[in-house]
Amino acid sequence: MKSVLKIVVLLTILCLMILEPSSPVVFKLTNVLCGSYNITWVRINHCRLKAINRHRTVFNFNATFLHPTKDITSHYRMFKRENGYRPWLVNTRIDGCRFLRKPYDALGIFLFNIYKNFTNVNHTCPLQGDIIVRDMYLTTDLMRLPLPTGDYLLAIDWLFYGKPQFATNVSFQFIEDIL
Ligand SMILES: *[C@@H]1O[C@H](CO)[C@@H](O)[C@H](O)[C@H]1NC(C)=O
Ligand SMILES: *[C@@H]1O[C@H](CO)[C@@H](O)[C@H](O)[C@H]1NC(C)=O
Ligand SMILES: *[C@@H]1O[C@H](CO)[C@@H](O)[C@H](O)[C@H]1NC(C)=O
Ligand SMILES: *[C@@H]1O[C@H](CO)[C@@H](O)[C@H](O)[C@H]1NC(C)=O
Ligand SMILES: *[C@@H]1O[C@H](CO)[C@@H](O)[C@H](O)[C@H]1NC(C)=O
Repeated sequence: MKSVLKIVVLLTILCLMILEPSSPVVFKLTNVLCGSYNITWVRINHCRLKAINRHRTVFNFNATFLHPTKDITSHYRMFKRENGYRPWLVNTRIDGCRFLRKPYDALGIFLFNIYKNFTNVNHTCPLQGDIIVRDMYLTTDLMRLPLPTGDYLLAIDWLFYGKPQFATNVSFQFIEDIL
């Protein structure tokens, strides 16, 4: 009886060792570039990365919408860098105001989840005034990305009433668990 218990305990420990998550993957921001296409509507006050440690950089963003908008489109394009950026892996447009009323589209939800905890946008359209993203970082805790190791660019164009107003381009590095 005792030896059976011993075996069970040993097996349990063995299982825990096998199932225990291995060394963390690298998933961090490497560069950001923002630009306004229409400075009479969108003023970008701040768009910068700050290194916290070797594995983490945080993104701070502050823009002012000088007039209210009730029509926002987020145009997401993701590229993988391989001798320059290869053609997009993702190319999708999300109706931002509809999304703020009720999130839709799996990819849109995934992308919004990355920054929603860090932004002051917690209400529906119209949006006006200062739009803030504070100390945003990437974490693998929530999402196991089906991404191969590499450097990526997520280029987001923000359109009001169908016309591009500003861009936020975020580059990041993803290094898979090598097991
Ligand atoms: C964002 O990236 C896209 C795609 O590479 C590029 O066309 C655009 O000029 C970039 N915008 C900024 C502000 O860097
Ligand atoms: C630029 O912004 C102004 C408001 O300041 C707006 O009236 C105009 O339509 C915008 N231009 C474009 C091309 O969206
Ligand atoms: C955002 O920028 C504006 C204009 O520079 C400034 O007044 C405001 O305090 C900034 N907000 C935050 C949260 O840093
Ligand atoms: C956002 O906040 C919620 C609640 O505090 C937390 O459960 C979740 O892990 C956070 N997401 C990110 C991406 O930090
Ligand atoms: C939205 O966030 C602001 C602070 O940024 C807070 O004062 C307000 O109560 C929040 N509104 C909702 C609906 O959560």
